[in-house]
Amino acid sequence: MILSSFSAVALAVIFPFVWAAPTIKQVRSVTTASERLGLKWIGGNSTLPKVLVLFTGGTIASGSAYGALDDTQYGQLSISGELIIARNPYLFNHSQLAVSNWTTKDSSTGTNDALVMNMTRFAHDALCSEDSDIDGAIFTHGTNSLEETAFLMDLLINCGKPIVGVGSMRPWTYLSFDGDANFFQAVMLAGNPDSRNRGVMVALNDRILQGFWTTKLTATTPDAFGQVMGGELGAFLNNMPYFYNTPTTPIQKHEFDISAVSAHPSYPALPKVDILYAAREFDGRLVLNAKSNGAKGVIIAGTGNGGIPSGDKEISEAMKTGLQVVVGTRSPFGASSPARTSTWAKSGYVHVIQARIMLQLAIASGFDMKRTVDLFEGSLRKAIGQPL
Ligand SMILES: *[C@@H]1O[C@H](CO)[C@@H](O)[C@H](O)[C@H]1NC(C)=O
Ligand SMILES: *[C@@H]1O[C@H](CO)[C@@H](O)[C@H](O)[C@H]1NC(C)=O
Ligand SMILES: *[C@@H]1O[C@H](CO)[C@@H](O)[C@H](O)[C@H]1NC(C)=O
Ligand SMILES: *[C@@H]1O[C@H](CO)[C@@H](O)[C@H](O)[C@H]1NC(C)=O
Repeated sequence: MILSSFSAVALAVIFPFVWAAPTIKQVRSVTTASERLGLKWIGGNSTLPKVLVLFTGGTIASGSAYGALDDTQYGQLSISGELIIARNPYLFNHSQLAVSNWTTKDSSTGTNDALVMNMTRFAHDALCSEDSDIDGAIFTHGTNSLEETAFLMDLLINCGKPIVGVGSMRPWTYLSFDGDANFFQAVMLAGNPDSRNRGVMVALNDRILQGFWTTKLTATTPDAFGQVMGGELGAFLNNMPYFYNTPTTPIQKHEFDISAVSAHPSYPALPKVDILYAAREFDGRLVLNAKSNGAKGVIIAGTGNGGIPSGDKEISEAMKTGLQVVVGTRSPFGASSPARTSTWAKSGYVHVIQARIMLQLAIASGFDMKRTVDLFEGSLRKAIGQPL
């Protein structure tokens, strides 16, 4: 849109006398992504940033029938994106909003790769197509799997527009619902020009986190989210975002082509990849079982820097039949470091939950085991002088 009005102005300057009404009509009749996707903008001030709300439910959409003290058994009541917005009149002094409803009766973004892929395609279309008139997006999400969707979107949507994952740890019926402030802050972040080119971010509990490194570190408190690597990007003060640093990109981040991933036969689902957790007496037959259950890949949360106590023989056997294997670390922090000679890939600093998604996207993009090894280990090997 900016480009077409610029060229209209340029044309008008260059050819003031041949400027004709039909051309103006043509320029103006080009549809916007919002029109094409049927998005209805609310807020009324058309000079403010347009922030798309991808609403998938989660605790932020839940209430409890057991009263204001319950934050473990809720889910009997629900609240829509529109109602959360209605609780926050301040939003419209800073943004225009349109809600896209991704809640379903029978599946959830916490359980269903296909639903998340469909939403990611929609967000990619809305934000990154040539006719996009949208400044940024937020997605509300259950906090148990928010990090998975954030990571997936980070690897698939890279046109520089901000995308912010948000949720709440407390239902809206609780003594002090954290969802109102988290939602407001996520919208402020997504509408902020300084948020561009920072990858997918997560806004919870006054923190601005980098989606690539974010995980739920604490199961039950409002301050649940943190990063396994890198620093937090910034914080909210007076509910407004402040970045400590200019944008950077994680070295291990690989941008996958969403149309290649969508062309894989499993689409809209992703190839099946399971996570196994290693400990003393690790049973390698679990890897063979995963393969016979239909897995195309397996992530093993290894010990320390990616050790596997036992089961090498079975893992090699499963790999001979085409299973791809990536070994991470069960430690919350630090690297699973490359072996001198790779059999399977070691995940480097990519956490096992995220390594699963990275392997799914690699398999869907046609990577073989050799390319997968390079995807996970390449930059690290080069840095430590241990090329393959
Ligand atoms: C719309 O937003 C702009 C930018 O914040 C502000 O200057 C203007 O007063 C607003 N208009 C109305 C009608 O509120
Ligand atoms: C929106 O901004 C106007 C003008 O600054 C202010 O009077 C009003 O109180 C604001 N509304 C909210 C809900 O903050
Ligand atoms: C969102 O979709 C769900 C499932 O189809 C539906 O139950 C719910 O009413 C929708 N919410 C709104 C606000 O339209
Ligand atoms: C994903 O989108 C496709 C195409 O619109 C649809 O057929 C399918 O039911 C969707 N899957 C889920 C889980 O939403």
